Amino acid sequence: MRILSEDFVSLKRRFYVLLHPRLTVLITTYCGGDKYNVMPCSWHTPVSWGPNLILVVIDKENFTHECIMNTKEFVVNVIDDTYLNKIMKLTVHGKRVDKFKRVGIETIKAKYVKAPIIKDALGYLEAKVYKTVDLEEETIFIGEVLHAAMRKDVYYKGGWNYNNARLIFHHWDNYFIKLDPKSFTEAPE
Ligand SMILES: Cc1cc2nc3c(=O)[nH]c(=O)nc-3n(C[C@H](O)[C@H](O)[C@H](O)COP(=O)(O)O)c2cc1C
Repeated sequence: MRILSEDFVSLKRRFYVLLHPRLTVLITTYCGGDKYNVMPCSWHTPVSWGPNLILVVIDKENFTHECIMNTKEFVVNVIDDTYLNKIMKLTVHGKRVDKFKRVGIETIKAKYVKAPIIKDALGYLEAKVYKTVDLEEETIFIGEVLHAAMRKDVYYKGGWNYNNARLIFHHWDNYFIKLDPKSFTEAPE
């Protein structure tokens, strides 16, 4: 058996921090009737170009899980650092709370799904569930991207304009990383 060198710390249940920081997004959902919901999420990634697919990992206890299970759709909203003082207020179960109202988040209608788009999001992806992977505590929702758009003022040459897009990255718990636009760099060929 290999013995962990003194140079390493065993992360155990916190294994995932090795793969952080991760872009912080808000998942919005339609939950039937006149109910909508929003939750912060950092376990997400693009997974395919044929068709265009993304995935989000959602804990089965979250209300968002119930909403996506019922409606089979969701929106991924990319937010900026103005959300740092709101983000932890969104980590309550949304069933009996209107988090949009409580935290002061305005929404607009999406084009292809009933889940709303956050009005001041820097960009968003409208997705419908393509496949689900059932885990013990979470479900991986693989979503087909029906529409993806980025605000013009944060767009530059095919990607983000980091001078205007103050993205926030999730370290862990309630710690975040703000991106310094000066850290943008190009790797040599
Ligand atoms: C920055 C951040 C990232 C999070 N990422 C995830 C995630 O990827 N998946 C998840 O299920 N919960 C994640 N959570 C926790 C949920 O946001 C939290 O459980 C929330 O209360 C769920 O809301 P809901 O029950 O209204 O859906 C994250 C929380 C924070 C603050």
